[in-house]
Amino acid sequence: MTTTRTRVAIVGAGPAGLLLSHLLEQAGIDSVVLDSRTRDEIEQTIRAGILEQGTVDILAEVGATSRVHTTGHRHDGIELHFADEAHRIDFPSLTGRSVWLYPQHEALIDLIAARLAAGQDLRFNTTVTSVEGVETASPSLQGTDAEGQPFTIEAEFIVGADGSRSVVRPAVTGSRNSGYFREYPFAWFGILCEAPPSSEELIYSNSANGFALISQRSDTVQRMYFQCDPEADTEALSEEQIWDELQSRVPNTELKRGPIFQRDVLRFRSFVVKELRNGRAALVGDAAHTVPPTGAKGMNLAVADVILLNQALQALLLRNDERPLDRYAETAQKRIWKAQHFSWWMTSMLHLSPESTEFDQMRQLGELRSVVESEAGRTYLAEAYTGWPFQTEL
Ligand code: DHB
Repeated sequence: MTTTRTRVAIVGAGPAGLLLSHLLEQAGIDSVVLDSRTRDEIEQTIRAGILEQGTVDILAEVGATSRVHTTGHRHDGIELHFADEAHRIDFPSLTGRSVWLYPQHEALIDLIAARLAAGQDLRFNTTVTSVEGVETASPSLQGTDAEGQPFTIEAEFIVGADGSRSVVRPAVTGSRNSGYFREYPFAWFGILCEAPPSSEELIYSNSANGFALISQRSDTVQRMYFQCDPEADTEALSEEQIWDELQSRVPNTELKRGPIFQRDVLRFRSFVVKELRNGRAALVGDAAHTVPPTGAKGMNLAVADVILLNQALQALLLRNDERPLDRYAETAQKRIWKAQHFSWWMTSMLHLSPESTEFDQMRQLGELRSVVESEAGRTYLAEAYTGWPFQTEL
């Protein structure tokens, strides 16, 4: 059994955990970051693609992530398609901000390289099995390392940045799954294909056949999604059937087809824990909340949590001031619920629910028209999509 002492033990080497370890180190606070996955798994799993301006700014500060400006692409707007019409929402003129298309796994490659270069104690393939003493000043973690050997980490604070199946969550909320919860009767069928972009900007389409999103990854690789049944079998459709399905949902734009090399089904859930902190443990990112993917808020919301928790931990560990930590949950929840609402709203406005009646579908078109034909409506969407300013004081 090996025992390590550190100030903050962070479970999860996703964007939230890695960014937090970086910010803490800048303040002179050492941490250990643990993840049950291998480095390859983390760096190769395809996830979200859109970063808010504020997320880009903070990642660019982490040194190696300047790649976001070279490999990533700035997007100044999106297209909303409905009723055979195309409407553009122009972000800079409405909000003065933009977003960046920069895949999450690229950001993770950058963050891992930067953390390892800085000498961070970052352990992959390491399973945490128990979290103890969070109601004392010296909480600890126990688990098994990459070689199967047991270990203990003694810390002053424990952070659960370990995603929707968080092992830290029960120590904070008292249960694995309790919280505010909503499921949706549809999912996304996602593909990656080798083809040039079909559109300069992302297209979010409400069509009579259901929703589609035409996104991108690079000049040669595209990411697209169409609404499907949550139980859909990714292998049930031929490539041609997938293309026909996508094309039927974006009748105004001719899709450039190419070989499809990855297919996945993304389940939709809205979830928020009732407690974000208990004593000397707190949750950030997907461990604390999940949003449906429409609007790409997941990773950006994780970054917003981290910015707040970093302030709280600096106050606690450098100045022995617990007050900011006492305000962490309440402050973080305000943004979490705004983002929950936005993700739910984009989802409900754009998807065809199996229960929806003709009335509901006509009402949806009225809702979309109220958004695109009003500067206030477009601004509301653009502000949320590009991201509300991060709150840096607690
Ligand atoms: C992507 C995903 C989203 O949920 C979204 O709203 C925009 C883009 C993407 O994976 O590219």
